[in-house]
Amino acid sequence: MSTYGMALVGSGSAVPAARVSNTRLSERVDTNDDWIRSRTGIAERRICSPDEPLTPLATRAAEAALAHAGWAAEDLDLILMATSSPDDLFGTAPRVQGALGAKNAVAFDLTAACSGFLFALITAGQYLRSGAMRRALVIGADQLSRWVDWDDRTTCVLFGDGAAAVAVEACPADADGLLGFRMRSDGSRNGCLTLAQTETHHSVLSGVDAQIGGFAPLRMNGQEVYKFAVREVPAVLKELLESTGTEASALNWLLLHQANQRILDAVADRFAIPHERVLSNLASYGNTSAATIPLMLDEAVKDGRIQPGDLIASSGFGAGLSWGGALLRWSGPQGAAT
Ligand code: UT7
Repeated sequence: MSTYGMALVGSGSAVPAARVSNTRLSERVDTNDDWIRSRTGIAERRICSPDEPLTPLATRAAEAALAHAGWAAEDLDLILMATSSPDDLFGTAPRVQGALGAKNAVAFDLTAACSGFLFALITAGQYLRSGAMRRALVIGADQLSRWVDWDDRTTCVLFGDGAAAVAVEACPADADGLLGFRMRSDGSRNGCLTLAQTETHHSVLSGVDAQIGGFAPLRMNGQEVYKFAVREVPAVLKELLESTGTEASALNWLLLHQANQRILDAVADRFAIPHERVLSNLASYGNTSAATIPLMLDEAVKDGRIQPGDLIASSGFGAGLSWGGALLRWSGPQGAAT
């Protein structure tokens, strides 16, 4: 058993103002509202404007999580930002740290696509449980509108932009909110979903060629990723429930990466979890990559669905390929009724 546990004590989120409906997208590509809704559950998505890219969006989400937890920015020891669409390849978390004025925090990015938030939460948990750090902000934020091919109807209809954050702090081990976790990668299937460096290069000196920086648009084999998700997510959750001695009927909420309503339904059915206990906001935001899980969490915390003490099974999955699961207990801000 660890010396300490990790308590989830606050959440916050921010989405861009611009909404793009399915019907609007049909002005650009050969698609329609009926296809997108019935195949994915998505009705609209938010798109970052050039005036508010990822750093200010993530900063707004971080400020909201700090306010919810009742913390000052100076209280933070760590800011871990899961993103695959950074403002700066050297790291966007330090920009957020600077904007917050969190001068005591170390800040760095973690990239694991749609598994990124869950991997970051678990990673932050290791610093808190060991006693190395006391308070952390885990952010999931992505602006994939930068990287989708807006002429590829098989991908551009799926993604949206968003940011959300969860405040976590060290607590007594018997109050641990991270009851179990699993993390997995399979790089042999990397080609199923990529946002890869382009192959272009130029001659720098005679006999010395160098690559030109730049990334190709997002490419996905949707059917392969779908099959992967409906196979691996139930498997990792089953392992997680068994290893923690938890019955699916004891779960208050299933909180999965929001990629496709059909995936959420298939996983819920596998565990006979009633659909009203499956959190979904796909209709409003689409797939916001690393942001989906904390965005959904924050919505359900703020509208009162998730209550202090609630048990939540969460799973992230996506590019890498990567996937994982965590069994979480929501604490809420200190002083809240339990
Ligand atoms: O976050 C990372 C994890 N990502 C995922 O989990 C995504 C997993 N995959 C999926 O969610 C689904 O595979 C998609 C939603 C991407 C696609 O749904 P699908 O039921 O697998 O559709 P499909 O790829 O089999 O395409 C069916 C048909 C095709 O036409 P034909 O060949 O049957 O004539 C496509 O060309 O639908 C067509 N199609 C579209 N039609 C209208 C594909 N995209 C569109 C579109 N609008 N946007």
